[in-house]
Amino acid sequence: MIAQLGRSAPFPIAILIFVCVLLAGRAHADDTADVRAASLELGEALFSERCASCHGANGNGDGPAASALKTAPADLTQITRRAGGAFPAAHVVEVITYGGNIAAHGSGPMPVWGRVFSDEGGRGKMGAARSRQAIIALKRYLETIQK
Ligand code: HEC
Repeated sequence: MIAQLGRSAPFPIAILIFVCVLLAGRAHADDTADVRAASLELGEALFSERCASCHGANGNGDGPAASALKTAPADLTQITRRAGGAFPAAHVVEVITYGGNIAAHGSGPMPVWGRVFSDEGGRGKMGAARSRQAIIALKRYLETIQK
């Protein structure tokens, strides 16, 4: 009896473990996809809230406030092309966080889009985590609109 179990049990158990690992892997992959989708949605919302007035709803540089500016807003669908073919993630994060020394963006401590992205530390750990998340979400969104 025991000998029999010993011979027949390992196989189904191995299958069970295999299936569990497979399912766990799938659930994890779904989670990651959900998190990515949510992040992209957040990025898009942040863009239309804080950037579209100048850069336009699609980032083409034709927002309603564009004509009032001395310098035309950049076409943000061409960031990669302007940078020579690779999306300059660090540069974009710098611009989002500190304004990137662009007059129309206001000053580093006082960007025209408010302090959503730069209030790190000011509201404690959670505030910093949220602004970090917002910066990454917006950067990712900008990456998806490159042409
Ligand atoms: C008040 C208008 C205004 C708002 C709001 C604004 N921008 Fe800009 N942005 C500009 C202008 C004008 C330029 C072009 C400056 C230049 O060419 O010297 C620019 C340039 C840029 C560039 C540089 C492009 C490059 O290839 O380096 C990036 C990136 C950018 N903006 C991102 C953003 C993001 C992200 C937001 C929202 C968080 C935003 N901007 C909000 C006016 C604005």
